[in-house]
Amino acid sequence: MGKFASFFAKTLGATNDDALTESRPASISAVGLTAHPSQKESKMPFRAVKGMNDVLPEQVGRWQRLEATFRHTVALYGYEEVRTPIVEPTALFVRSIGEATDVVDKEMYSFERHDESLTLRPEGTAGAARAYVEHSQHAREPISRWFYLGPMFRAERPQRGRYRQFHQAGCEVYGDLGPICDAEMIAMLADFYSKLGIANLQIQVNSIGGAESRQRHRDALLEFLRPKSASLSEHARERVEQNPLRVLDSKDPRDRAACEGAPSVLDYLVEEDQTHFSRLRNALDAMGVAYTVTPGLVRGLDYYTRTLFEISATSGDLGTQNALCGGGRYDKMIEGLGGQNIPAVGFAMGLERVLLAMPEAAELTLPFCFFAPMGETATARALAFAQALRREGVRVEVDSRGNRMKSMLRRADTMKARLVVILGDSELERSVAAIKDLEAHSQIEVSFDELIGKVAELLATVTAGRSA
Ligand code: HAM
Repeated sequence: MGKFASFFAKTLGATNDDALTESRPASISAVGLTAHPSQKESKMPFRAVKGMNDVLPEQVGRWQRLEATFRHTVALYGYEEVRTPIVEPTALFVRSIGEATDVVDKEMYSFERHDESLTLRPEGTAGAARAYVEHSQHAREPISRWFYLGPMFRAERPQRGRYRQFHQAGCEVYGDLGPICDAEMIAMLADFYSKLGIANLQIQVNSIGGAESRQRHRDALLEFLRPKSASLSEHARERVEQNPLRVLDSKDPRDRAACEGAPSVLDYLVEEDQTHFSRLRNALDAMGVAYTVTPGLVRGLDYYTRTLFEISATSGDLGTQNALCGGGRYDKMIEGLGGQNIPAVGFAMGLERVLLAMPEAAELTLPFCFFAPMGETATARALAFAQALRREGVRVEVDSRGNRMKSMLRRADTMKARLVVILGDSELERSVAAIKDLEAHSQIEVSFDELIGKVAELLATVTAGRSA
């Protein structure tokens, strides 16, 4: 039996296969994460990989609108899109993210191919930086503003808001030392989330300083943690000498207890770093952004220098995984990857989490218009109107099943149409159409000549109301 044939035979026969029976997170329809039928309900031999989710057509509209809002927002700030491969050399992530991080140590999907170790990207910053250096982008312009959207992969324990394939939208700025551009980035994010109706945002900022400040803090931290070594978790004990900051980031209750009263990084910043951080705070104040300074904010990746920030929310369906985005400055990565000495700052947000945090009312599907024509002649009329409206950029569906009016209206309701255009016999005779607003519970009658303009006008008001 060939390699694949024996694999299939094993998989198809293995009803107790771990991959098929492991429990999965519950369905989260708002995000478009589809629960899989349990093994009892389904005889299907294949299901999506644990922690990786399908987004079905009924849910994809929300995703597309979120992505469009993101693209629109970052375009206003001058960001251009970059698309980098999903697979990168493993060494790129080890070098930039750091060996002693959870992401590199435990969570990467790595594999060998033709004597090369490759990894499904766990985040977008390293790949974007590689592309920036590889294509000598510094020679093109002194400051580059890039954004990206796409799937990332981390072998974490799946739960609500935490998946093995998840999607990030992120921005990176190369060539600006900050801190004004860091502050502008945070303000842009605060605006973006409130535009989506996400309330109760907590914006946390911190600075871990440059190399000198970090060394000073590291020494102090080591001195503080060494005597407590016995009370640390095994994992932290292994890491403490290599990178004591990672212990501060640990979620283990033993480590959290040991870190109580640990030296604060802010007390070890050299003067230049202190100035950088106070200018960041002044700029945030000037823009009216509410934030808290969290000296314990560390973040799980090793590449950061100076500014760190994280935005979380307690709204919507978010559970404990409530960090909507995180980012910071990484002034040494470009040089570390063989480029010039070019500073950088960026962030990434988990789109699944943003969708969970958005209130139900922030329905992001396009408002659309449903035609309910009675009979052949009315249907022909409706089809012509529908074409004209689509040319105006309106989403339209014509019910051409020849059903009764009641059943067409029921379908319009299920499909969450905003407007229904009714073309019955009495309307046809008088060359008018009835426009029913399903949300406002109102109905008006307009002549055929006015129909296109009126529908476009009503839907434009709805869209404007939502983005206000
Ligand atoms: P990160 O904090 O590892 O930073 O991830 C950023 C965001 O991605 C998190 O705040 C969260 O919303 C989302 N996220 C992370 N892991 C998962 C997961 N397993 N499931 C669902 N969502 C997840 C970075 O990735 C950096 N590259 C950010 C950055 C860009 N720093 C500078 N530039």
